[in-house]
Amino acid sequence: MMFSVVILAAGKGTRMKSSLPKVLHPVGGKPIVQRIIDTVETLSPSAIQLVYGHGADQLKQTLKGENLNWCLQQEQNGTGHAVMQAQPYISDDEDVIVLVGDAPLIQASTLQRLQEAKKNADIALLTVDLDDPTGMGRIVREGNNIVGIVEHKDATEAQRTIKEINTGMMMMGGADLKRWLGQLSNDNAQQEYYLTDVIAMAASEGKRIQSAQPDTAIEVEGINNRVQLSRIELALQARQADALMTEGVTLLSPTQFSLRGNLTVGQDVIIDANVIIEGDVNLGDNVYIGPNCVIKDSTVASNSRIEAFSLLEKAKVGEQCNVGPYGRLRPGAIMEQGAKVGNFVEMKNAVLREGAKANHLTYLGDADIGARTNIGAGTITCNYDGVNKSKTIIGENAFIGSNSALVAPVTIGSGATVGAGSTINKDIDDNVLAVSRAKQRAIQGWERPTKKS
Ligand code: UD1
Ligand code: CA
Repeated sequence: MMFSVVILAAGKGTRMKSSLPKVLHPVGGKPIVQRIIDTVETLSPSAIQLVYGHGADQLKQTLKGENLNWCLQQEQNGTGHAVMQAQPYISDDEDVIVLVGDAPLIQASTLQRLQEAKKNADIALLTVDLDDPTGMGRIVREGNNIVGIVEHKDATEAQRTIKEINTGMMMMGGADLKRWLGQLSNDNAQQEYYLTDVIAMAASEGKRIQSAQPDTAIEVEGINNRVQLSRIELALQARQADALMTEGVTLLSPTQFSLRGNLTVGQDVIIDANVIIEGDVNLGDNVYIGPNCVIKDSTVASNSRIEAFSLLEKAKVGEQCNVGPYGRLRPGAIMEQGAKVGNFVEMKNAVLREGAKANHLTYLGDADIGARTNIGAGTITCNYDGVNKSKTIIGENAFIGSNSALVAPVTIGSGATVGAGSTINKDIDDNVLAVSRAKQRAIQGWERPTKKS
């Protein structure tokens, strides 16, 4: 059966104390509500109604979804009032799943469970038992049958002892939902239109009400403040770490690993402590990532090692390469098979071809470095004249002596050698030695100055 989804995301999120709308705060590098949209989309709904209120511009700039329909809730008069904003877009003959926009860990498998429960009922409710249900809506049952939901603020002492709570997620037929929305009133402690009141309406109409439960309570936990944000972040990280380890990745310190994006891996990848992976990252077989590395939107091919404290962004590292410790590969850095980048070497829009090496203290920007060429310590490609960027091209098997400045645009031939300490601003032919530095002089009888008394 066709179904659509309504996501309630108009709340202010005052307790975040932020200029960023609550639902845009990232969890695992992705905005809270984007995570929910992405999960929902795996179930192929006919449409997603996003009820929004605060930060419209920021939300519209940030969020992406295939069948996303924007429903403005000008004033936030409760969850029932929020769903009313989506009402014009809901058809009678489809089912509707209502979700809260601040519980990002909800899993597709749990929503499928809700759909299963709905098959034998008119309303399916996602509920969970909490040791401390304070503040939450309580599920009121008579015998085994659900007869209503009472909000904490409206509940009697006896009702407050109920541990089964409303997650805010439910599923029902479109025609039923619309009829019940029309009957909501705001005659309650918060003077809000409560979506939860539809449950008692359904019960009084003799409708069948079923409940379903998630595997763990954290899945349905909403984020209201930054303490909860951090708890949800840790739970997501633990979930992702478990999935990676199950897939065959060794995480040497799983609680100190952050994945803020998508990581795909080959076999026997080892990731040390305090590694952050962002965006889309692919690691080949036997890749080792040392402690304290940050890797963003990059690929590292098989049998390569990224040593401690290295930073990679939009970089491509080939097979059997070494980077770091303290390597920095900026966008457009490409290392072909067997290339090496050592400590305090920065690459940007530069290629180190097969087996080329830059082992110490070097800047390679806008450069193409031929196979097996060795770049000495302290070499700098001077790619910027203050206005324009220019290219440095070096052939194969060249040798660039330490502390050389290669003033671009400049081409250095294959097999060429540059003497240490040279400033090179003219092209160098293949197989020649180029040196450009002041000749060493020896001054005889030189006396060092002495301290004046
Ligand atoms: C609601 C439920 C409560 C449940 C709890 C689970 C009602 C009346 N109560 O509580 O039973 O235990 O969720 O978290 O439904 N929102 C809007 N517009 C509004 C009000 C809320 O879009 O006018 C959105 C919020 O942004 C949030 C979600 O709805 O994503 C839930 O709102 P929140 O205020 O957190 O829920 P409560 O009313 O406390
Ligand atoms: Ca709340």
